[in-house]
Amino acid sequence: MKIGIGNDHAATEMKNQIVAYLQEKGYEVVNYGTDSLESFPYPVSAKKVADAIVNKEVDCGILICGTGVGISIAANKVKGIRACVCSEPVSARLSKEHNNSNIIAFGARIVGVEMAKAIVDSWLNAKYQGGRHQTRIDMISEIEEQ
Ligand code: RB5
Repeated sequence: MKIGIGNDHAATEMKNQIVAYLQEKGYEVVNYGTDSLESFPYPVSAKKVADAIVNKEVDCGILICGTGVGISIAANKVKGIRACVCSEPVSARLSKEHNNSNIIAFGARIVGVEMAKAIVDSWLNAKYQGGRHQTRIDMISEIEEQ
């Protein structure tokens, strides 16, 4: 599985820790930055990762900013993206099982790195359940067309 990852300045350190963690587990990770601690606007990274998913350059994405909020809002403006900001593993798992999330987001100022790893593990190991949930996702896609 190929994972795209992006962040703003608030999350550079946590991004590096998560990249190392995922690579140790054998995942291929594409880093869309920023790698700087200088102020960097999260919509830039959000768009890069979202576009990479839509264009099938990566299979899914991880976005991290201070809270995970701004970067997920920005990613969700890209058609076909379902980015979910989660601060614990249960929501992360359910965001895949029920909402078929293709991006998980979290906040480097909200969760510690061990919780971030647990969120990522829970999300990557979850499977979309389809069935009744697809009807609702189809409704979300219809909203994108309006
Ligand atoms: C940057 O200071 C901060 O606003 C950003 O990382 C994020 O929390 C926005 O949602």
